Amino acid sequence: MNTSIATPPAVTPHGSLAAVYAQYPIDIVHAEDVWLHTRDGRRVLDCYGGHAVAALGHGHPRWVETLRRQAQDLGFQTNAVALDVRSRAAERLVAFAGLTLDTVFFVNSGAEANENALKIACRYTGRGHVVALEHGWHGRTAAAGAVTWGAREKWYGFPRTPFDVSFASRTDPELAAAAVTSQTACVIVEPVQGLAGAHAISGDVLQALRARCTEVGALLIFDEVQCGVGRTGHPFAANRAGVTPDLLTTAKALGSGFPVSALLLAPQVAQSLKLDDLGTTFGGGPMAAAVVETVIDVIESEGLLRNVRDVSAYLVEHCHRGPVSGSQGAGFLLGLRTTRPAKQVQSELLARDILVGTAADPNILRLLPPYTLTRAHADRLLAAVEGLGA
Ligand SMILES: Cc1ncc(COP(=O)(O)O)c(C=O)c1O
Repeated sequence: MNTSIATPPAVTPHGSLAAVYAQYPIDIVHAEDVWLHTRDGRRVLDCYGGHAVAALGHGHPRWVETLRRQAQDLGFQTNAVALDVRSRAAERLVAFAGLTLDTVFFVNSGAEANENALKIACRYTGRGHVVALEHGWHGRTAAAGAVTWGAREKWYGFPRTPFDVSFASRTDPELAAAAVTSQTACVIVEPVQGLAGAHAISGDVLQALRARCTEVGALLIFDEVQCGVGRTGHPFAANRAGVTPDLLTTAKALGSGFPVSALLLAPQVAQSLKLDDLGTTFGGGPMAAAVVETVIDVIESEGLLRNVRDVSAYLVEHCHRGPVSGSQGAGFLLGLRTTRPAKQVQSELLARDILVGTAADPNILRLLPPYTLTRAHADRLLAAVEGLGA
C-alpha cells in the first residue's frame, strides 16, 4: 500500500449543528460539473454526487437558469392553486418513466414519498402487514423506518411500528414470495439497494414478488429514491428489470440538488384516492416542479442515460485493480468490492482528490457520480485506485 500521502482526519466539527453525522474531511466552497473546489484550493473529482443527488453535475447552466427564472416568475404557491408548471412536471415524469403509472403526487423527501406509499397501500387493501427485503433502506420516518433493515435495533426510536413487518430474502425468489400472505398490504423493495452496497435485486426475485402480490391482492412498491431517474442508465430500475410496481417512489436525482420527491401511482390505486386523502405544503411547489421538467429534459437532450450505461460498463470492465476485487450494482449506482476496509480506501482516494461513498457493507465503496462523468474522468479514478496498491 502506498502510504506517502497523509490520510485526512475522519470528522469535522459540527458547531451549532446536531452532531448526528460523521462528516467527510472536505471543505467545499464551489462546484461545477463533476468537480468540487475546496477552501484550501484542491479540485476533487466527485464520484459521490452529494449522495446520489447531483445527477446533472453541479451548477448545470440549465438547472441554474430554471431556478433563477422560476424564482423570479413565481417562487411559491400551494397545491390549493392549480399551476401549469406543476401539471407539466407530472406529465413529463409519467412520460419519462414510460411505465403504466399515470398519476403523480409530489412531496419533498424520499422518506416522505415512502411514508405516503405505505399509507396508501394500507388504506387501499385494508390490511396491516408489510413485507420489506433484508438490507433495504427506506428512510427515517415512522413507516419508512419500520421497513428499514436494522433500524429498530439501531435508531428507530418510536415505541411501536405503524404495521407489522416481515423482512424477506433478497436473493431467493421462493422465500421472498412466501413471506407475502393474504394479510399483506404491500411489499416495498429497492430494486437496486443503495446503502446496502449497490446490490441489484435479481429479476427472478422482482418477478416472483410481482406475481405473488398480484395473486394475493397486495401492492408492490418500488423505492427508487436512490436508483431512479436515470441512475441505472434507464429511466427507472423498473424499466431495466421489466417489472412494473403499483407504486413507485423517487427523489434524489429528480431535483439534481433541489429538494423534491414523487410518488407514481398505477391507475387503479390513483382512482381510489379521494379529496383530502393526501396533502403537503411544499410538495410540488413551482421551483421543484420547474426543476423536475428541466432535469428530465437535460437527461434526455444530452443523452445522459446512454452515457451512464457506457461509462458504467467501462468502469466495471476495468475496476479490478489495486484494492478492488470486483463490482456490483447498476449504472452509476456501483459498488466496488475492496480487499481492505472500504472506509480506508475511501480516505486514501480522498487524499488523492477523489471523493467516493461507502456503504453498510464494510467492504464496498459506493460510486454515485453525476451522469456527466466521462470515460476520461473514470480513467482518473481507475489510475488512482491502481496507485493505492493491492
Ligand atoms: C432507497 C432510499 N429510500 C429512501 C431514502 C430516504 O430519503 P430521504 O433522505 O430523502 O428522506 C433514501 C435515502 O438515502 C434511500 O436511499
